[in-house]
Amino acid sequence: MLSIRNTLLPIALASLLLPGLHGQPTPITVQVGPGKPISPDLVGIFFEDLSYAADGGLYAELIQNRSFDYSATDHVGWTPLTAWELVERGGGQGSIAVETAQPLNPVNTSYAVLTVEKPGGGVGLQNEGFNGIPVKAGDRYDMSLFTRQIAGAAFPLTVRLESKGGALLAEGHLPAPTADWKKVSNVLTPTATDADARLIVLAGGAGKVALDMVSLFPGKTFHNRPNGLRPDLAQVIADLHPKFVRFPGGCLVHGDGIGNIYRWKETIGPIEQRKPQPNIWRYHQSKGLGFFEYFQFCEDIGAKPLPVVAAGVCCQNSNELVTHKYGIGQAGLPMDQMPAYVQDVLDLIEYANGPVTSTWGAKRAAAGHPKPFGLQYLGVGNEDKITPVFRERFEMIYKAVKAKHPEITVIGTVGPDPQGDDYTKGWKIADELHLPMVDEHCYKSPQWFWENNRRYDAYDRSKSKVYLGEWASFDDKRRSTLRSAISEAAYLTALERNADVVRFASYAPLLARRDHTDWTPDLIFFTKTEVFPTINYHVQQLFSLNGGDFYLPTVIGGDSAPSAPLAASAVGDSKTGDLIIKVVNGANAPAPLRITLAGVKRLPASATKTVLAGANPMETDERAVRPQSSTISIAPTFDYEAPANSLTIIRISNK
Ligand code: AHR
Repeated sequence: MLSIRNTLLPIALASLLLPGLHGQPTPITVQVGPGKPISPDLVGIFFEDLSYAADGGLYAELIQNRSFDYSATDHVGWTPLTAWELVERGGGQGSIAVETAQPLNPVNTSYAVLTVEKPGGGVGLQNEGFNGIPVKAGDRYDMSLFTRQIAGAAFPLTVRLESKGGALLAEGHLPAPTADWKKVSNVLTPTATDADARLIVLAGGAGKVALDMVSLFPGKTFHNRPNGLRPDLAQVIADLHPKFVRFPGGCLVHGDGIGNIYRWKETIGPIEQRKPQPNIWRYHQSKGLGFFEYFQFCEDIGAKPLPVVAAGVCCQNSNELVTHKYGIGQAGLPMDQMPAYVQDVLDLIEYANGPVTSTWGAKRAAAGHPKPFGLQYLGVGNEDKITPVFRERFEMIYKAVKAKHPEITVIGTVGPDPQGDDYTKGWKIADELHLPMVDEHCYKSPQWFWENNRRYDAYDRSKSKVYLGEWASFDDKRRSTLRSAISEAAYLTALERNADVVRFASYAPLLARRDHTDWTPDLIFFTKTEVFPTINYHVQQLFSLNGGDFYLPTVIGGDSAPSAPLAASAVGDSKTGDLIIKVVNGANAPAPLRITLAGVKRLPASATKTVLAGANPMETDERAVRPQSSTISIAPTFDYEAPANSLTIIRISNK
């Protein structure tokens, strides 16, 4: 899809042309003064359930395929019993099947039926979790399931956590099933830590019992929320201090065919009433992490919610596996379904912001959040192919939201690439409809990001604002490297310089499980027990922690804007009064700089300097390149040598 050219040569050539690299320091001049107002919310995150980011990732549920809904439509070779297996102990004999005749409810259609012919030492079923269930000694795990007795005498069930080899880690008992579906639960506390445990449900007598929604949830979740998030992953995201969270995607939003469009209403309420569905990334969405949990997470980390809904059309890459053709799969919801779809979008705003006396506000309150979530922004569409089918539906949604909720900023979409047909057509719609903001996407090489540093300088300030909703620098073989991270840092200086136009930017994708990575590069990798931020993570974090609300004109080497391999920006933060200078050196050699703070009236003798740098531009290991902070002496004009392949943040405190 993307062509990545070798970027070393042009950068090396450019370094020869820059004065600073011949021994004389390159001048960087920051004009200190009132500056230009910019978005204080520039850096946020893009969350999509891609590469097991939600199920098997941020969503803390430890049981895989808990409601026996997996199918070959989700993933080739999957069945409703994937991740499950029959257990027959001590001469026990039985079988498991999946049935749909008397489900728990109309959306949760399949369930397991355990038939025990000979109980022996116990017959039951075992779940392997997402490649093993990690448990910690002494921690609490809440186990629950729905049961229904189908035939035979009712007998209590035993639940166990065992090591892969069968050693007992924890055991509990559940009351005997009844003739109607009933939820039963127990708490399991393992006596040993095991990263690869199994959950086992055993029946002690002969008969037939139905089981569904088998869940094992850690007692410890982020902010102790029920049905909550994995704390280590949620924390590494919180540590980015994102100003906003875009959710739930990405392509996941517009889905693989119109039947797969993400419907927010199917993701709220009791988890057993949420409609599971295939994930466009060829796995499964339990929807356990739904819109309530997303809004709550935003609140917990102090970020603005930025939900995205489909524009009434599915992904243009739908059915690609069937047709083997790319980009021709867009279809629109039939027009007679559009009024109901538009109403769903309006109801989302009511769910987030409406009073508890409103229909959807009451549902939010019932979930435990009477206070509104303070929704201000709503994305409509995700890098859709811009066609008449799209436009007709987009306009319906946009006009309805604008009429009923003028307080909401609707963000339109201008295709998957920062140029080309969809980009041009998307911007035409934005101009004609006077959209407040559009979502641009940009996955390019490090070289592209250096070469396009001035891109937004030329944007017409009277047009729609920009949300750079998905962006990442792709190094060779779609890797993230120090070189790609530094090119992102350089681009972020350009985004800051233009943050009067570019209001938001989010690197994409955010999370990827190492054993289930569908897309690279990603900002944070993880396994079932560990978290691995990338070098690029630190770039996002440093810009997020050192953002401002006014931009101070910054000039390198006498130019009106920076060029490779140097980039710089300076912002002021009116809350703290701090002045923050960022300098990026993309060359493979140190860059001597002479920084002048023109017009500065008062200056402390020193400032905090944070440097992210490494000798090898192709470095991929974050442990080798971490930000280091120290003190630097400053003056109205001072010299600083920016290390090779580096981002430096100089924060001058007002205190
Ligand atoms: O970020 C990964 C994918 O890239 C998103 O789902 C999609 O919008 C884009 O093509």
